[in-house]
Amino acid sequence: MIVLGIETSCDETAAAIVDSEHQILSESIYSQIKIHEKYLGVVPELAARSHIDRCDKVIIDTINKANLSLSKIDAIAATAGPGLLGGLLVGLTMAKSISLATKKPFIAINHLDGHALTPRLSHNVNFPYLLLLISGGHSMFLSVEGPGEYILLGQSIDDALGEAFDKTGRLLGLGYPGGPEIEKIAINGDPYRFIFPHPLRGRKNCDLSFSGLKTSVRQTAEKLSPLSSKDKEDIAASFQSTICKIIEERLINAIKLFSSYHPKARTLAAAGGVASNTVIRNTLERVANNSNFDLFVPSPKLCTDNGVMVAWAGIEHRLLGRKSDYNFDVKARWPLGGNCYEF
Ligand code: KG4
Ligand code: ZN
Repeated sequence: MIVLGIETSCDETAAAIVDSEHQILSESIYSQIKIHEKYLGVVPELAARSHIDRCDKVIIDTINKANLSLSKIDAIAATAGPGLLGGLLVGLTMAKSISLATKKPFIAINHLDGHALTPRLSHNVNFPYLLLLISGGHSMFLSVEGPGEYILLGQSIDDALGEAFDKTGRLLGLGYPGGPEIEKIAINGDPYRFIFPHPLRGRKNCDLSFSGLKTSVRQTAEKLSPLSSKDKEDIAASFQSTICKIIEERLINAIKLFSSYHPKARTLAAAGGVASNTVIRNTLERVANNSNFDLFVPSPKLCTDNGVMVAWAGIEHRLLGRKSDYNFDVKARWPLGGNCYEF
Protein backbone atom coordinates (compact mmCIF):
# COMPACT_ATOMS: atom_id res chain seq x y z
CA MET A 1 0.00 0.00 0.00
CA ILE A 2 1.27 3.49 -0.89
CA VAL A 3 -0.03 6.64 0.83
CA LEU A 4 0.58 10.35 0.25
CA GLY A 5 0.64 12.31 3.53
CA ILE A 6 0.26 16.08 3.95
CA GLU A 7 1.18 18.03 7.11
CA THR A 8 0.26 21.72 7.58
CA SER A 9 -0.74 21.98 11.26
CA CYS A 10 1.90 24.49 12.37
CA ASP A 11 4.96 26.02 10.70
CA GLU A 12 6.06 23.31 8.29
CA THR A 13 4.48 22.57 4.94
CA ALA A 14 5.38 18.93 4.43
CA ALA A 15 4.40 15.98 2.28
CA ALA A 16 5.70 12.45 1.84
CA ILE A 17 4.93 9.21 0.08
CA VAL A 18 5.41 6.09 2.18
CA ASP A 19 4.61 2.43 1.59
CA SER A 20 3.44 -0.32 3.92
CA GLU A 21 6.91 -1.92 3.75
CA HIS A 22 8.21 1.03 5.83
CA GLN A 23 9.89 2.65 2.82
CA ILE A 24 9.90 6.43 2.53
CA LEU A 25 9.57 6.79 -1.25
CA SER A 26 9.93 10.56 -1.15
CA GLU A 27 9.45 13.56 1.07
CA SER A 28 9.48 17.31 0.82
CA ILE A 29 9.36 19.92 3.54
CA TYR A 30 9.23 23.70 3.55
CA SER A 31 10.07 25.22 6.94
CA GLN A 32 8.56 28.62 7.81
CA ILE A 33 11.22 29.37 10.45
CA LYS A 34 12.53 32.34 8.45
CA ILE A 35 9.01 33.86 8.38
CA HIS A 36 8.36 33.55 12.12
CA GLU A 37 11.80 33.96 13.70
CA LYS A 38 11.65 37.73 13.92
CA TYR A 39 8.42 37.41 15.97
CA LEU A 40 10.02 34.67 18.16
CA GLY A 41 6.93 32.49 17.68
CA VAL A 42 4.46 31.29 15.05
CA VAL A 43 2.13 34.01 13.68
CA PRO A 44 -0.99 32.02 12.64
CA GLU A 45 -2.07 34.32 9.77
CA LEU A 46 1.41 34.35 8.22
CA ALA A 47 1.62 30.58 8.67
CA ALA A 48 -1.68 30.05 6.83
CA ARG A 49 -0.66 32.30 3.93
CA SER A 50 2.65 30.52 3.57
CA HIS A 51 0.92 27.12 3.54
CA ILE A 52 -1.35 28.38 0.72
CA ASP A 53 1.70 29.56 -1.17
CA ARG A 54 3.74 26.36 -0.73
CA CYS A 55 1.39 23.41 -0.31
CA ASP A 56 0.88 22.58 -4.01
CA LYS A 57 4.62 22.98 -4.74
CA VAL A 58 5.62 20.70 -1.85
CA ILE A 59 3.12 18.03 -2.97
CA ILE A 60 4.21 18.21 -6.61
CA ASP A 61 7.86 18.00 -5.53
CA THR A 62 7.07 14.89 -3.43
CA ILE A 63 5.26 13.17 -6.29
CA ASN A 64 8.06 14.02 -8.76
CA LYS A 65 10.78 12.77 -6.41
CA ALA A 66 8.97 9.44 -5.93
CA ASN A 67 8.76 9.11 -9.71
CA LEU A 68 5.24 7.74 -9.36
CA SER A 69 2.02 8.67 -11.07
CA LEU A 70 -0.85 9.58 -8.75
CA SER A 71 -2.70 6.49 -9.97
CA LYS A 72 -0.21 4.32 -8.05
CA ILE A 73 -1.11 5.98 -4.73
CA ASP A 74 -3.72 4.09 -2.69
CA ALA A 75 -4.89 6.86 -0.35
CA ILE A 76 -4.38 10.51 0.57
CA ALA A 77 -3.86 11.40 4.25
CA ALA A 78 -3.70 14.86 5.78
CA THR A 79 -3.45 16.26 9.29
CA ALA A 80 -6.88 17.58 10.35
CA GLY A 81 -5.90 18.66 13.88
CA PRO A 82 -4.92 19.59 16.48
CA GLY A 83 -3.18 22.73 15.26
CA LEU A 84 -3.66 26.15 13.69
CA LEU A 85 -6.93 26.18 11.75
CA GLY A 86 -5.76 28.25 8.76
CA GLY A 87 -2.89 25.90 7.95
CA LEU A 88 -4.93 22.77 8.63
CA LEU A 89 -7.61 23.96 6.20
CA VAL A 90 -5.04 24.29 3.43
CA GLY A 91 -3.63 20.76 3.79
CA LEU A 92 -6.98 19.09 4.43
CA THR A 93 -8.69 20.79 1.48
CA MET A 94 -5.77 19.85 -0.75
CA ALA A 95 -6.03 16.20 0.36
CA LYS A 96 -9.81 16.10 -0.20
CA SER A 97 -9.37 17.63 -3.68
CA ILE A 98 -6.70 15.11 -4.73
CA SER A 99 -8.87 12.34 -3.32
CA LEU A 100 -11.90 13.53 -5.32
CA ALA A 101 -9.89 13.90 -8.51
CA THR A 102 -8.17 10.50 -8.22
CA LYS A 103 -11.10 8.65 -6.59
CA LYS A 104 -8.70 7.33 -3.93
CA PRO A 105 -9.80 7.29 -0.28
CA PHE A 106 -9.11 10.29 1.90
CA ILE A 107 -8.15 9.93 5.53
CA ALA A 108 -8.00 12.67 8.19
CA ILE A 109 -5.08 12.20 10.58
CA ASN A 110 -4.73 13.34 14.16
CA HIS A 111 -1.28 14.99 14.32
CA LEU A 112 -0.59 13.26 17.66
CA ASP A 113 -1.48 9.91 16.12
CA GLY A 114 1.16 10.69 13.47
CA HIS A 115 3.86 11.30 16.10
CA ALA A 116 2.74 8.33 18.21
CA LEU A 117 2.86 5.77 15.38
CA THR A 118 6.21 6.89 13.94
CA PRO A 119 8.26 4.45 16.12
CA ARG A 120 6.43 1.66 14.27
CA LEU A 121 7.61 3.03 10.94
CA SER A 122 11.19 3.58 12.09
CA HIS A 123 11.69 0.57 14.38
CA ASN A 124 8.76 -1.74 13.68
CA VAL A 125 7.74 -1.76 17.36
CA ASN A 126 4.76 -3.91 18.34
CA PHE A 127 1.66 -2.84 20.26
CA PRO A 128 1.32 -2.17 23.12
CA TYR A 129 4.12 0.25 23.92
CA LEU A 130 4.68 3.05 26.39
CA LEU A 131 5.13 6.37 24.62
CA LEU A 132 6.46 9.68 25.86
CA LEU A 133 5.06 12.23 23.41
CA ILE A 134 6.80 15.58 23.83
CA SER A 135 6.14 18.35 21.32
CA GLY A 136 5.49 22.08 21.14
CA GLY A 137 1.85 21.69 22.18
CA HIS A 138 1.68 18.41 24.10
CA SER A 139 3.50 16.38 26.76
CA MET A 140 2.01 13.03 27.68
CA PHE A 141 2.62 9.43 28.58
CA LEU A 142 0.44 7.08 26.55
CA SER A 143 -0.07 3.39 26.33
CA VAL A 144 -0.31 2.89 22.57
CA GLU A 145 -2.74 0.03 22.09
CA GLY A 146 -3.30 0.24 18.33
CA PRO A 147 -3.69 2.87 15.58
CA GLY A 148 -5.95 5.54 17.07
CA GLU A 149 -6.24 3.56 20.33
CA TYR A 150 -4.56 5.00 23.40
CA ILE A 151 -4.72 4.98 27.16
CA LEU A 152 -3.68 8.37 28.52
CA LEU A 153 -1.47 7.60 31.54
CA GLY A 154 -0.40 11.14 32.42
CA GLN A 155 0.07 14.56 30.86
CA SER A 156 1.29 18.07 31.53
CA ILE A 157 -1.01 19.97 33.83
CA ASP A 158 0.31 23.30 32.44
CA ASP A 159 2.90 24.04 29.72
CA ALA A 160 3.97 21.56 27.09
CA LEU A 161 7.67 20.71 27.25
CA GLY A 162 8.43 22.27 23.84
CA GLU A 163 6.65 25.41 24.99
CA ALA A 164 8.88 25.53 28.11
CA PHE A 165 11.97 25.20 25.88
CA ASP A 166 10.70 27.89 23.49
CA LYS A 167 9.80 30.34 26.27
CA THR A 168 13.15 29.81 27.99
CA GLY A 169 14.91 30.31 24.66
CA ARG A 170 13.08 33.62 24.19
CA LEU A 171 14.03 34.72 27.69
CA LEU A 172 17.69 34.03 26.94
CA GLY A 173 17.45 35.98 23.68
CA LEU A 174 18.04 32.87 21.56
CA GLY A 175 16.53 32.23 18.13
CA TYR A 176 13.24 30.51 17.37
CA PRO A 177 12.45 27.69 17.98
CA GLY A 178 14.16 27.72 21.37
CA GLY A 179 14.55 23.95 21.88
CA PRO A 180 17.42 23.26 19.47
CA GLU A 181 19.11 26.58 20.46
CA ILE A 182 19.03 25.68 24.15
CA GLU A 183 20.45 22.24 23.41
CA LYS A 184 23.26 23.87 21.39
CA ILE A 185 24.43 26.38 24.02
CA ALA A 186 23.86 23.99 26.95
CA ILE A 187 26.79 21.89 25.71
CA ASN A 188 29.23 24.52 27.07
CA GLY A 189 27.21 25.33 30.21
CA ASP A 190 27.48 24.21 33.84
CA PRO A 191 24.35 22.14 34.66
CA TYR A 192 25.07 22.45 38.43
CA ARG A 193 25.27 26.25 38.66
CA PHE A 194 21.54 26.83 39.19
CA ILE A 195 19.09 24.72 41.16
CA PHE A 196 15.66 24.94 39.55
CA PRO A 197 12.46 23.44 41.03
CA HIS A 198 11.25 20.00 40.16
CA PRO A 199 7.43 20.26 40.11
CA LEU A 200 5.28 17.28 41.18
CA ARG A 201 8.30 15.39 42.59
CA GLY A 202 7.13 12.51 44.75
CA ARG A 203 3.59 12.40 43.35
CA LYS A 204 2.55 8.84 42.58
CA ASN A 205 1.06 9.60 39.15
CA CYS A 206 2.97 10.40 35.95
CA ASP A 207 1.62 13.87 35.24
CA LEU A 208 4.10 16.55 34.24
CA SER A 209 4.42 20.23 35.05
CA PHE A 210 6.84 22.83 33.70
CA SER A 211 5.40 26.26 34.46
CA GLY A 212 7.06 26.59 37.93
CA LEU A 213 10.40 25.73 36.37
CA LYS A 214 9.87 28.36 33.69
CA THR A 215 9.05 31.02 36.30
CA SER A 216 12.15 30.15 38.32
CA VAL A 217 14.34 30.42 35.20
CA ARG A 218 12.81 33.85 34.50
CA GLN A 219 13.50 35.07 38.06
CA THR A 220 17.10 33.83 37.86
CA ALA A 221 17.62 35.58 34.52
CA GLU A 222 16.11 38.83 35.85
CA LYS A 223 18.40 38.76 38.90
CA LEU A 224 21.51 38.33 36.75
CA SER A 225 20.47 40.77 34.02
CA PRO A 226 22.28 41.73 31.80
CA LEU A 227 23.17 38.11 31.04
CA SER A 228 26.66 37.20 29.86
CA SER A 229 27.13 34.39 27.33
CA LYS A 230 28.39 32.22 30.19
CA ASP A 231 25.23 32.97 32.23
CA LYS A 232 23.07 31.96 29.27
CA GLU A 233 24.98 28.72 28.74
CA ASP A 234 24.76 27.84 32.44
CA ILE A 235 21.03 28.63 32.60
CA ALA A 236 20.41 26.52 29.48
CA ALA A 237 22.43 23.61 30.87
CA SER A 238 20.79 23.78 34.32
CA PHE A 239 17.33 24.07 32.74
CA GLN A 240 17.92 21.09 30.45
CA SER A 241 19.35 18.97 33.24
CA THR A 242 16.33 19.76 35.47
CA ILE A 243 14.03 18.70 32.61
CA CYS A 244 15.92 15.41 32.43
CA LYS A 245 15.52 14.84 36.19
CA ILE A 246 11.78 15.58 35.93
CA ILE A 247 11.38 13.19 33.00
CA GLU A 248 13.39 10.49 34.77
CA GLU A 249 11.31 10.60 37.94
CA ARG A 250 7.97 10.80 36.13
CA LEU A 251 8.93 8.08 33.65
CA ILE A 252 9.62 5.60 36.45
CA ASN A 253 6.00 6.10 37.58
CA ALA A 254 4.74 5.88 33.98
CA ILE A 255 6.51 2.54 33.55
CA LYS A 256 4.83 1.22 36.73
CA LEU A 257 1.41 2.37 35.53
CA PHE A 258 1.95 0.99 32.03
CA SER A 259 3.09 -2.34 33.49
CA SER A 260 -0.12 -2.57 35.52
CA TYR A 261 -2.01 -2.62 32.20
CA HIS A 262 0.52 -4.72 30.29
CA PRO A 263 2.74 -6.72 32.68
CA LYS A 264 4.63 -8.45 29.85
CA ALA A 265 5.22 -5.47 27.53
CA ARG A 266 8.75 -4.07 27.59
CA THR A 267 8.85 -1.33 24.95
CA LEU A 268 9.37 2.37 25.56
CA ALA A 269 9.24 4.86 22.68
CA ALA A 270 9.45 8.63 22.43
CA ALA A 271 8.18 10.98 19.75
CA GLY A 272 7.55 14.66 19.01
CA GLY A 273 10.00 17.49 18.38
CA VAL A 274 11.53 17.54 21.88
CA ALA A 275 12.41 13.84 21.54
CA SER A 276 15.09 14.91 19.07
CA ASN A 277 17.09 16.32 22.04
CA THR A 278 20.16 14.13 22.61
CA VAL A 279 20.43 14.73 26.36
CA ILE A 280 16.77 13.76 26.83
CA ARG A 281 17.26 10.68 24.63
CA ASN A 282 20.23 9.63 26.83
CA THR A 283 18.07 10.02 29.95
CA LEU A 284 15.36 7.83 28.44
CA GLU A 285 17.98 5.23 27.52
CA ARG A 286 19.24 5.09 31.10
CA VAL A 287 15.77 4.70 32.63
CA ALA A 288 14.79 2.10 30.03
CA ASN A 289 17.94 0.05 30.80
CA ASN A 290 17.31 0.19 34.53
CA SER A 291 13.73 -0.99 34.02
CA ASN A 292 14.54 -3.74 31.50
CA PHE A 293 12.71 -1.88 28.77
CA ASP A 294 13.92 -1.44 25.19
CA LEU A 295 13.92 2.15 23.99
CA PHE A 296 13.08 3.15 20.42
CA VAL A 297 13.21 6.77 19.31
CA PRO A 298 12.83 7.80 15.65
CA SER A 299 15.64 9.84 14.08
CA PRO A 300 15.53 13.56 14.99
CA LYS A 301 14.16 14.36 11.52
CA LEU A 302 11.20 12.04 12.11
CA CYS A 303 10.59 13.45 15.62
CA THR A 304 9.98 17.02 14.47
CA ASP A 305 6.95 17.66 12.26
CA ASN A 306 7.08 16.00 8.84
CA GLY A 307 4.89 14.51 6.14
CA VAL A 308 6.19 10.96 6.62
CA MET A 309 4.42 10.51 9.95
CA VAL A 310 1.09 11.54 8.39
CA ALA A 311 1.52 9.16 5.45
CA TRP A 312 2.51 6.34 7.82
CA ALA A 313 -0.50 6.96 10.12
CA GLY A 314 -2.62 6.89 6.94
CA ILE A 315 -1.18 3.47 6.10
CA GLU A 316 -1.87 2.11 9.60
CA HIS A 317 -5.51 3.23 9.45
CA ARG A 318 -6.06 2.17 5.83
CA LEU A 319 -4.71 -1.31 6.62
CA LEU A 320 -7.61 -1.53 9.09
CA GLY A 321 -10.00 -0.44 6.32
CA ARG A 322 -10.61 3.01 7.74
CA LYS A 323 -11.28 6.18 5.76
CA SER A 324 -12.76 9.59 6.48
CA ASP A 325 -15.83 11.37 5.19
CA TYR A 326 -15.40 14.53 3.08
CA ASN A 327 -17.44 16.36 5.72
CA PHE A 328 -14.65 15.82 8.20
CA ASP A 329 -13.51 19.29 9.26
CA VAL A 330 -10.35 20.72 10.80
CA LYS A 331 -10.06 20.78 14.60
CA ALA A 332 -7.95 23.17 16.67
CA ARG A 333 -8.25 20.70 19.56
CA TRP A 334 -8.58 16.99 19.02
CA PRO A 335 -7.86 14.66 21.93
CA LEU A 336 -6.37 11.35 20.85
CA GLY A 337 -8.87 8.59 20.27
CA GLY A 338 -11.72 10.77 18.88
CA ASN A 339 -13.33 8.76 16.10
CA CYS A 340 -13.21 10.15 12.56
CA TYR A 341 -13.28 7.03 10.52
CA GLU A 342 -15.81 4.99 8.57
CA PHE A 343 -15.28 1.28 8.98
O1 KG4 B 1 6.59 18.01 17.18
P1 KG4 B 1 7.04 19.39 16.80
O2 KG4 B 1 7.96 19.54 15.64
O3 KG4 B 1 5.82 20.33 16.56
C1 KG4 B 1 4.65 20.23 17.34
O4 KG4 B 1 3.84 19.33 17.09
O5 KG4 B 1 4.57 21.05 18.30
O6 KG4 B 1 7.73 20.01 18.11
C2 KG4 B 1 8.23 21.32 18.11
C3 KG4 B 1 8.86 21.58 19.45
C4 KG4 B 1 9.32 23.01 19.60
O7 KG4 B 1 8.85 23.48 20.86
C5 KG4 B 1 10.83 22.91 19.58
O8 KG4 B 1 11.48 23.91 20.35
C6 KG4 B 1 11.04 21.54 20.17
O9 KG4 B 1 10.03 20.76 19.60
N1 KG4 B 1 12.34 20.98 19.82
C7 KG4 B 1 13.32 20.73 20.72
C8 KG4 B 1 14.44 20.28 19.98
N2 KG4 B 1 14.10 20.26 18.66
C9 KG4 B 1 12.81 20.69 18.58
N3 KG4 B 1 13.34 20.86 22.06
C10 KG4 B 1 14.48 20.53 22.70
N4 KG4 B 1 15.60 20.10 22.07
C11 KG4 B 1 15.62 19.96 20.72
N5 KG4 B 1 16.71 19.53 20.10
ZN1 ZN C 1 4.22 17.83 16.01
